[in-house]
Amino acid sequence: MNALGTFYGIGVGPGEPGLLPVIAWETLQRCAVIYVPRAGSQEASTAKNCLPANEIPEERFREVVFDMSKDHAALEARYTVMAESIAELLRAGQDVAYLTIGDTMTFSTFNYTLRAVRSACPEAPWHVFPGVPCYAALAAVTGFPLGEGKERVQILPCPEDTAELERVIQRNDIVVLMKIGHRLSAVLDLLQSMELLEHAAFGSRIGMPDGNCLLGIASLLSTPTSGYLSTMLIRNPAPRQS
Ligand SMILES: C[S@@+](CC[C@H](N)C(=O)[O-])C[C@H]1O[C@@H](n2cnc3c(N)ncnc32)[C@H](O)[C@@H]1O
Repeated sequence: MNALGTFYGIGVGPGEPGLLPVIAWETLQRCAVIYVPRAGSQEASTAKNCLPANEIPEERFREVVFDMSKDHAALEARYTVMAESIAELLRAGQDVAYLTIGDTMTFSTFNYTLRAVRSACPEAPWHVFPGVPCYAALAAVTGFPLGEGKERVQILPCPEDTAELERVIQRNDIVVLMKIGHRLSAVLDLLQSMELLEHAAFGSRIGMPDGNCLLGIASLLSTPTSGYLSTMLIRNPAPRQS
Protein backbone atom coordinates (compact mmCIF):
# COMPACT_ATOMS: atom_id res chain seq x y z
CA MET A 1 0.00 0.00 0.00
CA ASN A 2 1.21 3.52 -0.86
CA ALA A 3 2.13 5.95 1.90
CA LEU A 4 -0.48 8.69 1.94
CA GLY A 5 0.32 12.05 0.38
CA THR A 6 0.13 15.24 2.44
CA PHE A 7 -2.37 18.03 1.80
CA TYR A 8 -0.80 21.52 2.04
CA GLY A 9 -2.61 24.85 2.39
CA ILE A 10 -0.46 27.73 1.18
CA GLY A 11 -1.26 31.45 1.47
CA VAL A 12 0.24 33.59 -1.32
CA GLY A 13 0.34 37.35 -1.97
CA PRO A 14 -1.45 39.65 -1.78
CA GLY A 15 1.31 41.68 -3.30
CA GLU A 16 4.14 41.28 -5.65
CA PRO A 17 4.67 37.76 -6.99
CA GLY A 18 6.85 35.74 -4.64
CA LEU A 19 5.31 36.94 -1.37
CA LEU A 20 5.16 33.59 0.43
CA PRO A 21 7.33 31.95 3.09
CA VAL A 22 10.47 30.18 1.83
CA ILE A 23 9.39 26.91 3.45
CA ALA A 24 6.00 27.10 1.70
CA TRP A 25 7.69 27.78 -1.66
CA GLU A 26 10.10 24.86 -1.21
CA THR A 27 7.21 22.55 -0.30
CA LEU A 28 5.12 23.77 -3.22
CA GLN A 29 7.88 22.95 -5.69
CA ARG A 30 7.81 19.33 -4.47
CA CYS A 31 4.02 18.93 -4.73
CA ALA A 32 2.74 16.71 -7.55
CA VAL A 33 -0.52 18.64 -7.95
CA ILE A 34 -1.33 22.28 -7.13
CA TYR A 35 -4.94 23.42 -6.97
CA VAL A 36 -5.45 27.10 -7.81
CA PRO A 37 -8.83 28.78 -7.31
CA ARG A 38 -10.05 31.20 -9.99
CA ALA A 39 -13.05 33.51 -9.71
CA GLY A 40 -15.51 32.88 -12.55
CA SER A 41 -15.29 36.60 -13.40
CA GLN A 42 -11.47 36.49 -13.86
CA GLU A 43 -9.47 35.18 -16.79
CA ALA A 44 -6.58 33.94 -14.67
CA SER A 45 -6.11 32.71 -11.12
CA THR A 46 -5.02 35.60 -8.91
CA ALA A 47 -3.43 33.11 -6.48
CA LYS A 48 -1.36 31.53 -9.26
CA ASN A 49 -0.22 34.99 -10.39
CA CYS A 50 1.23 35.54 -6.91
CA LEU A 51 3.85 32.82 -7.52
CA PRO A 52 7.23 33.54 -9.10
CA ALA A 53 6.52 33.16 -12.85
CA ASN A 54 7.37 30.02 -14.85
CA GLU A 55 9.14 28.18 -12.04
CA ILE A 56 6.70 25.26 -11.76
CA PRO A 57 5.68 23.11 -14.76
CA GLU A 58 2.19 24.07 -16.00
CA GLU A 59 0.91 20.50 -15.98
CA ARG A 60 1.07 20.39 -12.19
CA PHE A 61 -1.59 23.13 -11.81
CA ARG A 62 -5.29 22.33 -11.57
CA GLU A 63 -7.62 25.30 -11.78
CA VAL A 64 -10.91 25.28 -9.85
CA VAL A 65 -13.43 27.92 -10.90
CA PHE A 66 -15.62 29.42 -8.19
CA ASP A 67 -18.56 31.73 -8.79
CA MET A 68 -19.68 34.24 -6.17
CA SER A 69 -22.66 32.00 -5.43
CA LYS A 70 -24.71 32.54 -2.29
CA ASP A 71 -26.24 29.10 -2.75
CA HIS A 72 -24.58 27.29 0.17
CA ALA A 73 -25.80 23.84 -0.84
CA ALA A 74 -24.33 24.27 -4.35
CA LEU A 75 -21.03 25.57 -2.94
CA GLU A 76 -20.80 22.72 -0.45
CA ALA A 77 -21.42 20.23 -3.23
CA ARG A 78 -18.55 21.79 -5.23
CA TYR A 79 -16.19 21.58 -2.25
CA THR A 80 -17.17 17.94 -1.70
CA VAL A 81 -16.45 17.00 -5.33
CA MET A 82 -13.11 18.84 -5.27
CA ALA A 83 -12.18 17.25 -1.93
CA GLU A 84 -12.93 13.78 -3.34
CA SER A 85 -10.53 14.35 -6.24
CA ILE A 86 -7.86 15.63 -3.82
CA ALA A 87 -8.46 12.61 -1.55
CA GLU A 88 -7.88 10.25 -4.49
CA LEU A 89 -4.48 11.84 -5.15
CA LEU A 90 -3.55 11.69 -1.45
CA ARG A 91 -4.49 8.00 -1.32
CA ALA A 92 -2.25 7.45 -4.34
CA GLY A 93 0.63 8.90 -2.31
CA GLN A 94 0.80 12.27 -4.08
CA ASP A 95 1.39 15.51 -2.19
CA VAL A 96 -1.24 18.10 -3.08
CA ALA A 97 -1.18 21.87 -2.46
CA TYR A 98 -4.04 24.34 -2.49
CA LEU A 99 -3.21 28.05 -2.95
CA THR A 100 -5.21 30.82 -1.37
CA ILE A 101 -4.86 34.59 -1.31
CA GLY A 102 -3.48 36.27 1.82
CA ASP A 103 -3.41 34.39 5.08
CA THR A 104 -4.58 30.81 4.72
CA MET A 105 -6.86 30.78 7.77
CA THR A 106 -8.05 34.42 7.89
CA PHE A 107 -11.58 34.87 6.51
CA SER A 108 -10.55 32.37 3.86
CA THR A 109 -12.57 29.93 1.80
CA PHE A 110 -9.56 27.65 2.28
CA ASN A 111 -11.20 26.77 5.61
CA TYR A 112 -14.06 25.08 3.68
CA THR A 113 -11.54 23.26 1.50
CA LEU A 114 -9.55 21.99 4.48
CA ARG A 115 -12.71 20.76 6.24
CA ALA A 116 -13.90 18.98 3.09
CA VAL A 117 -10.50 17.33 2.47
CA ARG A 118 -10.18 16.21 6.09
CA SER A 119 -13.63 14.70 5.91
CA ALA A 120 -12.97 13.00 2.53
CA CYS A 121 -9.63 11.56 3.65
CA PRO A 122 -9.34 11.74 7.46
CA GLU A 123 -6.28 9.49 7.46
CA ALA A 124 -4.13 11.82 5.29
CA PRO A 125 -1.72 14.25 6.97
CA TRP A 126 -2.22 17.96 6.30
CA HIS A 127 -0.16 21.07 6.93
CA VAL A 128 -1.07 24.73 6.59
CA PHE A 129 1.52 27.45 5.94
CA PRO A 130 0.36 30.93 6.97
CA GLY A 131 0.37 33.74 4.43
CA VAL A 132 0.45 37.54 4.56
CA PRO A 133 -3.04 38.92 5.32
CA CYS A 134 -4.24 41.82 3.15
CA TYR A 135 -4.16 44.25 6.08
CA ALA A 136 -0.50 43.42 6.83
CA ALA A 137 0.33 44.00 3.15
CA LEU A 138 -1.52 47.35 3.24
CA ALA A 139 0.23 48.38 6.47
CA ALA A 140 3.60 47.56 4.88
CA VAL A 141 2.90 49.44 1.63
CA THR A 142 1.65 52.58 3.41
CA GLY A 143 3.99 52.49 6.45
CA PHE A 144 0.95 52.35 8.76
CA PRO A 145 1.89 50.92 12.22
CA LEU A 146 -0.58 48.16 13.10
CA GLY A 147 -0.29 48.62 16.84
CA GLU A 148 2.47 50.05 18.99
CA GLY A 149 3.01 49.31 22.67
CA LYS A 150 -0.31 48.24 24.13
CA GLU A 151 -2.56 49.71 21.48
CA ARG A 152 -5.77 47.83 20.80
CA VAL A 153 -6.28 46.57 17.25
CA GLN A 154 -9.68 45.32 16.15
CA ILE A 155 -10.16 43.39 12.90
CA LEU A 156 -13.68 43.09 11.57
CA PRO A 157 -15.77 42.70 8.44
CA CYS A 158 -17.39 46.07 7.74
CA PRO A 159 -20.69 46.30 9.65
CA GLU A 160 -23.81 47.26 7.69
CA ASP A 161 -24.68 49.79 10.39
CA THR A 162 -22.31 52.78 10.52
CA ALA A 163 -23.34 53.53 14.14
CA GLU A 164 -21.89 50.14 15.08
CA LEU A 165 -18.67 50.94 13.21
CA GLU A 166 -18.46 54.30 15.02
CA ARG A 167 -18.66 52.53 18.39
CA VAL A 168 -15.92 50.07 17.36
CA ILE A 169 -13.64 52.92 16.26
CA GLN A 170 -14.27 54.83 19.51
CA ARG A 171 -13.25 51.82 21.63
CA ASN A 172 -10.03 50.96 19.79
CA ASP A 173 -6.75 52.51 18.76
CA ILE A 174 -6.73 50.88 15.35
CA VAL A 175 -9.51 49.31 13.34
CA VAL A 176 -8.90 46.99 10.40
CA LEU A 177 -11.90 46.90 8.12
CA MET A 178 -12.37 44.08 5.64
CA LYS A 179 -15.22 43.15 3.28
CA ILE A 180 -16.19 46.79 2.72
CA GLY A 181 -18.00 46.31 -0.62
CA HIS A 182 -20.97 48.62 -1.26
CA ARG A 183 -20.55 50.24 2.20
CA LEU A 184 -17.46 52.27 1.15
CA SER A 185 -19.21 55.61 0.68
CA ALA A 186 -21.05 55.29 4.04
CA VAL A 187 -17.71 54.49 5.74
CA LEU A 188 -16.07 57.53 4.11
CA ASP A 189 -18.93 59.77 5.30
CA LEU A 190 -18.53 58.43 8.84
CA LEU A 191 -14.76 58.96 8.85
CA GLN A 192 -15.25 62.48 7.53
CA SER A 193 -17.70 63.26 10.34
CA MET A 194 -15.23 61.80 12.89
CA GLU A 195 -12.34 63.76 11.27
CA LEU A 196 -10.41 60.55 10.72
CA LEU A 197 -9.88 60.57 6.94
CA GLU A 198 -6.27 61.70 7.37
CA HIS A 199 -5.71 58.92 9.91
CA ALA A 200 -6.77 56.10 7.59
CA ALA A 201 -5.22 53.98 4.86
CA PHE A 202 -7.11 52.27 2.04
CA GLY A 203 -6.00 49.46 -0.24
CA SER A 204 -7.98 48.22 -3.18
CA ARG A 205 -6.89 45.13 -5.14
CA ILE A 206 -3.57 45.25 -3.26
CA GLY A 207 -0.76 43.73 -5.29
CA MET A 208 -2.71 43.60 -8.56
CA PRO A 209 -1.69 45.63 -11.60
CA ASP A 210 -4.74 47.92 -11.15
CA GLY A 211 -4.36 48.05 -7.35
CA ASN A 212 -4.41 51.28 -5.37
CA CYS A 213 -3.06 51.96 -1.85
CA LEU A 214 -3.40 55.32 -0.10
CA LEU A 215 -2.40 56.80 3.25
CA GLY A 216 -4.78 59.68 4.04
CA ILE A 217 -7.96 58.97 2.16
CA ALA A 218 -9.83 62.29 1.82
CA SER A 219 -9.28 62.09 -1.96
CA LEU A 220 -11.60 59.06 -2.11
CA LEU A 221 -14.56 61.36 -1.33
CA SER A 222 -14.26 62.88 -4.78
CA THR A 223 -12.92 59.86 -6.72
CA PRO A 224 -15.34 57.09 -7.67
CA THR A 225 -13.76 54.02 -6.05
CA SER A 226 -15.03 50.51 -5.56
CA GLY A 227 -15.04 49.03 -2.07
CA TYR A 228 -14.86 45.49 -3.46
CA LEU A 229 -11.63 43.63 -2.70
CA SER A 230 -10.56 46.46 -0.48
CA THR A 231 -9.24 46.87 3.05
CA MET A 232 -9.02 49.91 5.32
CA LEU A 233 -6.87 50.74 8.36
CA ILE A 234 -8.22 53.42 10.69
CA ARG A 235 -6.26 55.00 13.53
CA ASN A 236 -8.25 56.64 16.30
CA PRO A 237 -5.93 59.19 17.91
CA ALA A 238 -8.20 59.52 20.98
CA PRO A 239 -9.87 56.19 21.84
CA ARG A 240 -12.56 56.23 24.52
CA GLN A 241 -11.65 53.94 27.43
CA SER A 242 -14.03 51.04 27.99
C1 LIG B 1 -12.44 36.19 1.78
S1 LIG B 1 -11.52 37.47 2.56
C2 LIG B 1 -9.88 36.89 2.30
C3 LIG B 1 -8.89 37.42 3.29
C4 LIG B 1 -7.49 36.85 3.07
N1 LIG B 1 -7.43 35.46 3.44
C5 LIG B 1 -6.42 37.63 3.83
O1 LIG B 1 -5.75 37.06 4.70
O2 LIG B 1 -6.25 38.82 3.55
C6 LIG B 1 -11.75 38.72 1.40
C7 LIG B 1 -11.49 40.08 1.97
O3 LIG B 1 -10.09 40.24 2.16
C8 LIG B 1 -9.69 41.52 1.73
N2 LIG B 1 -8.78 41.34 0.58
C9 LIG B 1 -8.40 40.18 0.03
N3 LIG B 1 -7.54 40.39 -0.98
C10 LIG B 1 -7.37 41.72 -1.05
C11 LIG B 1 -6.59 42.56 -1.89
N4 LIG B 1 -5.82 42.06 -2.84
N5 LIG B 1 -6.66 43.90 -1.70
C12 LIG B 1 -7.43 44.41 -0.72
N6 LIG B 1 -8.17 43.67 0.10
C13 LIG B 1 -8.15 42.33 -0.06
C14 LIG B 1 -10.95 42.31 1.38
O4 LIG B 1 -11.38 42.98 2.54
C15 LIG B 1 -11.90 41.19 1.00
O5 LIG B 1 -13.24 41.60 1.19
